[in-house]
Amino acid sequence: MKTPKRIGILTGGGDCPGLNAVIRAVVKTVINDYDIAVVGFLDGFEGLVENKFVNLNLDNASGILTRGGTILGTSNRADPFKYPVLEGGKYEYRDRSDQAVKTFEEHGLEALVCIGGDGTMAVSHKIAQKNIPVVGIPKTIDNDLVGTDVTFGFDSALTTATEAIDKIHTTAQSHHRVMIIEVMGRYAGWLALCSGIAGGGDIILIPEIPYDIDSICEAIKQRKYHGRYFSILVVGEGAKPKGGEIVVKKRVEGSPEPIRLGGIGHKVADDIEDKIQVETRVTILGHLLRGGVPSPADRLLATRFGVVAAEQVAKRKFGKMVALKGNEIVTVPIDQIAGKIRTVPLDSPYLSMARSVGTCLGD
Ligand code: F6P
Repeated sequence: MKTPKRIGILTGGGDCPGLNAVIRAVVKTVINDYDIAVVGFLDGFEGLVENKFVNLNLDNASGILTRGGTILGTSNRADPFKYPVLEGGKYEYRDRSDQAVKTFEEHGLEALVCIGGDGTMAVSHKIAQKNIPVVGIPKTIDNDLVGTDVTFGFDSALTTATEAIDKIHTTAQSHHRVMIIEVMGRYAGWLALCSGIAGGGDIILIPEIPYDIDSICEAIKQRKYHGRYFSILVVGEGAKPKGGEIVVKKRVEGSPEPIRLGGIGHKVADDIEDKIQVETRVTILGHLLRGGVPSPADRLLATRFGVVAAEQVAKRKFGKMVALKGNEIVTVPIDQIAGKIRTVPLDSPYLSMARSVGTCLGD
């Protein structure tokens, strides 16, 4: 079996710390170990459809290990099978996957490394059906990809969220307030739960456990009764009240997943103030969680993922996503990942751990 001579690479979906560390690891490994040339497509699958690219080499893939974002750019609105085209002020959707295949062939590529979340893996799976050999690498701050214990980007976002909670703690104490910190994570509560535990949150609300506002108010009152006049509440953007709805911030037309969440923190704050008249403030961390340098753990994971993905390419083992299982890097078929998300299981040790240290989970 001959090693490929030339491959493509792209980053899709929302960015996160560690993308450049993966690009670096893939590019350096395929060049150093296998003498494979690399074309980087710009702005995710948009680059493949529109033929926007840069040739990657040991020069431009160096010095980027610690840099946040992605040198290739990314997009969460560029599914080649449902490609948004603005016509008369309105988005129309076209299947431009044949154009993506044409670009791939014109560059003489033999494989495509797709770094992304669930949306990118779903597209990668569909593009693989059109005879493009793919290898996937999981990223996202949401940590919601099935098939892997953890995605890179999560640890960095967790660090940022925890540092923010630590800072908010002191002002909460000074003013005897309820301080609400809203974090991203979409429909999965990993970031809220883990940062809430790490930051010593008194109340943690996640999408997987619809909350009861009365339980939250009771927890705040109990803390006051025991002489703790402030409370820290960490809420995932996808959390919702029992029998209620998630808070949708906006719809992004042209995006395969148009719903953007955000604002649940304000709803919880208003309800607390109405019910128990405790002064409450809200901080929405938002895209801050996606920025900054990758944590050492993410640099390490991104490098491990990138090196193994490069080996998969060299051995022509396609249709798989690299993943972390325990402490091993393994590969899982992309068709087992596409279209699914990994939420916090209700029997997660993190949940029982949080309850054991007295955290209210809103139920
Ligand atoms: O998937 C990563 C993520 O940051 C989510 O946590 C969040 O809901 C979403 O992307 C925000 O998307 P956008 O950058 O399009 O606002």
